Amino acid sequence: MDRAAALPGTTDRRLAALLTLLSENATIVISGARIAREIGVSRSTVWRWVEALRELGVRVKGQQRTGYFLEKVPDVLTPDILRQRLKGRLFGKRIYHFFKTDSTNRVAMELGYSGEPEGAIILAEEQTKGRGRAGRSWHSERASGLYFTLLLRPRLSPAQAPLLTMLAGLSSHAAIEAQTGIAATLKWPNDILVNGKKLGGILTEMHAEPTLVKFVIVGIGINVNQERFPSDLGSIATSLRRESGRAHSRLELLVRLLREFETDYNRFLREGASYVVDRFTAVSSFANGKRVRVDTGLESYVGTTAGLSAEGLLIVKKDDGSTITVIAGDVSECK
Ligand code: BTN
Repeated sequence: MDRAAALPGTTDRRLAALLTLLSENATIVISGARIAREIGVSRSTVWRWVEALRELGVRVKGQQRTGYFLEKVPDVLTPDILRQRLKGRLFGKRIYHFFKTDSTNRVAMELGYSGEPEGAIILAEEQTKGRGRAGRSWHSERASGLYFTLLLRPRLSPAQAPLLTMLAGLSSHAAIEAQTGIAATLKWPNDILVNGKKLGGILTEMHAEPTLVKFVIVGIGINVNQERFPSDLGSIATSLRRESGRAHSRLELLVRLLREFETDYNRFLREGASYVVDRFTAVSSFANGKRVRVDTGLESYVGTTAGLSAEGLLIVKKDDGSTITVIAGDVSECK
């Protein structure tokens, strides 16, 4: 069964087809009758969907009588276009697109439990309850950032799953640099930072037996075209647009990131933890020699980072000379 058709809230394939048709003919007026014929709905449905697209911020001009056209090709992550760009790839086959959902991680968990195969990607233009680490929320303004989750079924032990968070950070870092020239850094375990501000984050969740992972979901959020943030985030968050002074294509960044991730994922499965740990150590300006405060929820201490363990855990040398391996916790720079 095609779950995308059955999953509540996913973008209707025909609505996506309308958007693709308009995008492929941008700035050309297409009559309502032709659209209706090509996507197989009535003219009044075309009109209703055009209204729906407008509400979602897509700039459709024209009217029922004269026909419709797009003022400019929207940067919407249309499944048809993504599928074409990711042909033959792991993440190009099962694409679940939402204009709005609560959390792509929540949807991915549900799909994971219902037997969805590896390689599914769940993306949203907007999240109403985007989840961050440690129970925090993730600001997910409509069509401004990338909000998506990958579903994986690797043969790994649960203890190795956090390496996938680091791997996602590495792929995001590489894709961001290649696409925009912006050199971000990674903060263990899941932060993508630029100039000390948060550009993106990763939230990995899993369902596992004691020794084997059943499935892992890797949720990635990247701030791309946000011009401003709510006041509580203003001093700690940034976007690619704010850093570079120009807008960036979310679609291009996503395609690049998914290709990178697939290559990195296969290498990790072949070569093991050292592939991730070595690269992360090289890319992260936090892995060595950084004065940090670690907050584990149970205790809080200050020390200096001293690399990563072979399993990918952060090693911190406390001021009293003792060494701690951080399994989980918030790490912040001490200024
Ligand atoms: C963090 O840094 O706290 C992790 C943020 C992860 C956000 C992404 S956005 C897509 C996916 N869906 C969610 O609900 N969260 C992740």
